[in-house]
Amino acid sequence: MKSFTQFKDYDSANELIETALHYKKYPYVDASLGKGKRIGLIFLNPSLRTRVSTQIAASNLGMEAIVLNIDQDGWALEFEDGVKMNKKSVEHVKEAAAVLGSYFDILALRAFPSLTDKEKDMEEYIFTTFAKYAGKPIISLESATRHPLQSLADMITIKEQKVKDKPKVVLTWAPHIKAIPHAVANSFAEWALGCDYDLTITHPPGYELDEKFTQGAHITIDQEEALKDADFVYVKNWCVYHDYGKIQMMGDDWMLTEEKLSASPNAKIMHCLPVRRNLEISDEILDGKRSLVQEQANNRVFAAQAVLSKILK
Ligand code: CP
Repeated sequence: MKSFTQFKDYDSANELIETALHYKKYPYVDASLGKGKRIGLIFLNPSLRTRVSTQIAASNLGMEAIVLNIDQDGWALEFEDGVKMNKKSVEHVKEAAAVLGSYFDILALRAFPSLTDKEKDMEEYIFTTFAKYAGKPIISLESATRHPLQSLADMITIKEQKVKDKPKVVLTWAPHIKAIPHAVANSFAEWALGCDYDLTITHPPGYELDEKFTQGAHITIDQEEALKDADFVYVKNWCVYHDYGKIQMMGDDWMLTEEKLSASPNAKIMHCLPVRRNLEISDEILDGKRSLVQEQANNRVFAAQAVLSKILK
């Protein structure tokens, strides 16, 4: 494997999940695999889980991880070609990415969407431009349209928790006060369908996700119908596509509560975190037995370790 930016196929996903579960049992079994190798974790946006779990994963493989919060600690980057750099940007990505590429064996990048330029976000302009000039294997720490390490951790969690071959998995929209990217929802749909789960997506009218990620899912605006007999419920906000990057409604009545789960007694609740309590999901769920959010966060380490090991090997 050269890079990790999205779901590839059923077999590769299963291999990564099995490798991650092996590392969960034996975290140090490959403690010298990354000896003498260095990974650069480059962040254009904030992070808690992605940053720390990937650092721990690298450390478990004997690899050195260096974090650069390039948005705060680096020079302001220019991504456009041919511009006269007489405004805010100080360094062009052509130089910055190439320099970082020369320092590291593997690079990993977090680059959220602008939520203002739909075309550029959809073509992953920032991520692909950086990758092009870096010239090294690259891992997505969340890009404009996908968050594959999160989805891999989510699939590991489902695999560990499921009691039937093809569980009913529901992705439900949740309220938020800010415009939130589509990456987690897109990726979760892509991986859940790719892993052959029975996926239902529910959201208010107007919040349709890109069909590229959701083909094969049952899609409904009826949250009550969607939640019935669910085995797993993944809660996530995302903003609208048609009025790109905007919030169309607060949608307080879409918050997930115990009352809404009365017809799905066995449902386990998932969220990538950070979660806004009592806006997206109620306290009673997050503090109760249904919640898998800590398991998901824990599995981020082994998801990253599985991906790093594949690239190192
Ligand atoms: N879920 C996730 O990616 O968390 P962070 O944004 O804190 O890294």
